[in-house]
Formats: sequence, C-alpha cells, structure tokens
Amino acid sequence: MSLAIIGGTGVYDLGALTASENVDTPFGEVQVFRVKVAGETVIFLPRHGVGHSVPPHRINYRANIWALHALGVREVLATQAVGSLNLRMAPGHFVLLSQFIDWTKSRPLTFFDGDGGPVVHVDVTHPYCQRLTGHLLRAAEFLDERVHGEAVYACTEGPRFETAAEVHALRMLGADLVGMTNVPEVVLARESGLCYAAVSIVCNWGAGMTNYPLTQDEVLEIMRDQTAELREVLHRFIALHRDGNCTCAELGFPQYLSA
Ligand code: HPA
Repeated sequence: MSLAIIGGTGVYDLGALTASENVDTPFGEVQVFRVKVAGETVIFLPRHGVGHSVPPHRINYRANIWALHALGVREVLATQAVGSLNLRMAPGHFVLLSQFIDWTKSRPLTFFDGDGGPVVHVDVTHPYCQRLTGHLLRAAEFLDERVHGEAVYACTEGPRFETAAEVHALRMLGADLVGMTNVPEVVLARESGLCYAAVSIVCNWGAGMTNYPLTQDEVLEIMRDQTAELREVLHRFIALHRDGNCTCAELGFPQYLSA
C-alpha cells in the first residue's frame, strides 16, 4: 500500500530525498518528493509549497489530493501545527484528530462541483481513518502523556489568528484544537477513497487564553523544538505493519476522479 505524508508548517524534510516530480492535475501542477524513510519509499508533499510560500486559504487542496490519488497513493498521513483550546493538550503535545468543525469560508470544498459532473454527498461521520489513526497512536505511544488519541479540530479560514471571542465560541462548541489547513484536505481525501490520518503538534494556547499576543514565531519555535520527535513518530509509523480493516475506500467516489 503506498503512503504519502503531507507535511505542514515546520515539516520540510523527513529523510533522504530520492526524487522530485511534478504531477499534472485538472487543478494545476503539484510538486511532490519521493523520500526513503525506515526502508520504505514514501511520497512527501509540503502543504505550503517549497519554501512555505502558500498561505492556508490559498493552498490548492484539490490539486494536492488529486495528485496523490493519481500517483496510486492509498494512505495519507498529515501533520499540522495547531493552537490548543483544551487545557489537557499543552504546547509540545501531539494530538491525533478524530473529528472536525468547519469554520472555513472561501475555499473550494469538493471535487464534485456539479458542472456536468455527478452530484455526490460523501459520508464524513468519522472523517479520519480509524485504522490508520490506531496505528499512529501506537507509533506515538513513546510520548506517554504528551500524546492524545482523539480530538475535535476546528478549521478556521486564516490567515489571521482567531479573536478571543471566536476561541471562546469554539471551546463552547466542543473543539479541542484550532488550525487553518485540515479542511477541506481530509474531505477531499475521503471523496477520493483514501485513508487519511492526522497528527497535530500543539504550538500555542488559543487566542485570549493567555495574556500575550499570538505570533507566528511562537508557532515556528515550538514546531522546531518538536521536529525530532515528530520525525520519530513518522518513522515508527512507517515501520509498522498497518493491517486491519476500514471502509475509507468504499465511502469515496474514486471512480469519478479522472482527468
Ligand atoms: N490558530 C489557528 N491556526 C494555528 C494556531 C492557532 O492558534 N496555531 C497554529 N496554527
């Protein structure tokens, strides 16, 4: 089963780079890398582009997921920097996602926009692949109390951080984490029938939960501090036999995804 890693903020190199490749999609070209990790060649896709040049609301999510599907990828492991709304999930912790709340506003949401194509409604009751997430938790167990196996992720539009009132509202809605990139990525993965799991790195408390302003530097500094451990999690995950059952392939509509 071929695996891709979508690297978020602060995750730009994972192992020996073997090749870079440009993939054509109906939504534009995507650059991916083949990387050798734990003896396996995996595809690495830097979500924000090479050199972190694309802000969250401008990421070409459809092109990225289409490219992975076209390359024959079956499993996707995504990383993302997040702010925490949950006092148990502190900066430096690793959190696996189990649910999302979509607070985005202006992004293309789907591969199925009408326009003569089929109208489909994909099931996202459990948006993240439970089989892959279970294996990811095994790979991260060495972090002990600094890893959490489930969380509700709220995706905001960005690129600004949230207001204190927005953070307060999201906490009341039951969100544990806030970030800007996991939606629509996870939805497009489901539409394509891919297995998708996500590990978040908590970089800061949500806006208004501290008495100082939030900065990009704070986020990047924590990401830098956690890079070695994140790499270790990814290496352990890749080395695992990721067997078991899931229904991700049947829930998607990959039969409609051709150029
Ligand atoms: N809000 C949104 N996105 C983020 C945050 C945050 O507090 N931290 C890292 N990414």
